[in-house]
Amino acid sequence: MLFRQLYDSVSGTYTYLIASRRGGEALIIDPVLEKVDRYLQLVKELDLRLVKAVDTHVHADHVTGLGVLRDRTQCITVMGEQSNVDVVSMRVSEGDALTIEGVSLDVIYTPGHTDDSYSFVMQDRVFTGDTLLIRGTGRTDFQNGDARQQYESLFGKLLRLPDDTLVYPAHDYKGDMVSTIAEERAFNPRLQVKSVDEYIDLMSKLKLPNPKMMDVAIPANLHVGMAQQEIASRGWALTAADAVALVGKPEVAFIDLREKEERRKHGVIPGSLHAPYPDLRENIDTGGVLHELATATTKRMLFYCAFGERSAMAVQAAQGAGLASACHIQGGIDAWKKAGGPLAK
Ligand SMILES: [Fe+2]
Repeated sequence: MLFRQLYDSVSGTYTYLIASRRGGEALIIDPVLEKVDRYLQLVKELDLRLVKAVDTHVHADHVTGLGVLRDRTQCITVMGEQSNVDVVSMRVSEGDALTIEGVSLDVIYTPGHTDDSYSFVMQDRVFTGDTLLIRGTGRTDFQNGDARQQYESLFGKLLRLPDDTLVYPAHDYKGDMVSTIAEERAFNPRLQVKSVDEYIDLMSKLKLPNPKMMDVAIPANLHVGMAQQEIASRGWALTAADAVALVGKPEVAFIDLREKEERRKHGVIPGSLHAPYPDLRENIDTGGVLHELATATTKRMLFYCAFGERSAMAVQAAQGAGLASACHIQGGIDAWKKAGGPLAK
């Protein structure tokens, strides 16, 4: 297992790079924009392929690296289903598994610091975002924060993990890097309360100044920019409504880029092929199934995913590989559902 804890001293943010082996797929949690070059250098040095970039929540104190990482590596960007952010290409919710080759993280919804805060459990450790910090907890006074919800996330979820679970937070300003659930339960001053009301009272009296970067970071993190506008301007996009009319037509191949779990949860367009986004490169290169499909038939290749972000990147890659019939459904399955498109299980 490869595990790297990286630090941004300006915002006090920890970023985590995870992979199961050298030469394999990698995932990054809470990347900071200004540090993207450093992450990509490390990814290269360790011979990794970055396939997912995850934010635990919309950050107020730094600009996320998700958009630039996506543009430079074509990775999948992941946040919770509550995040009102345009860059996201995959959304997770409580009980999901966040996976890359050889690694699986259990997704826990832990709102309170913000209403879109998530934690991720990986074997002996948990990435707690700003929900549980070392000897602290994330503030609850803006971004739809709620001390009552945070109490439930802490006492009802995180503190129920095994005592020796390692705690890796999104921030620390004192230089602490890792703790454990038992240690936090015993020594975290915010967790020494006897009731939810006592916790709410404690949090309401903090009177913290707003983060320096807040007015810049929050708007920047909500509007990172989508890959889809560019694709539409080149005429490689169909609206969901136009795509619905093509179901069952022999001249069109619907190609689903999502993962198995997303297909099971949200349904699939009837008759579509499954070609997961992480395998795209080998599928569109000479000898790959999509390359064969495009060259051996006259079928139009219509990619789709959850929100249209992965499929927009796929169209770009497929067109670059000479597959001139590649296009995608703008807005993905989300738009497809809104257009009343049929779905099979
Ligand atoms: Fe935060």
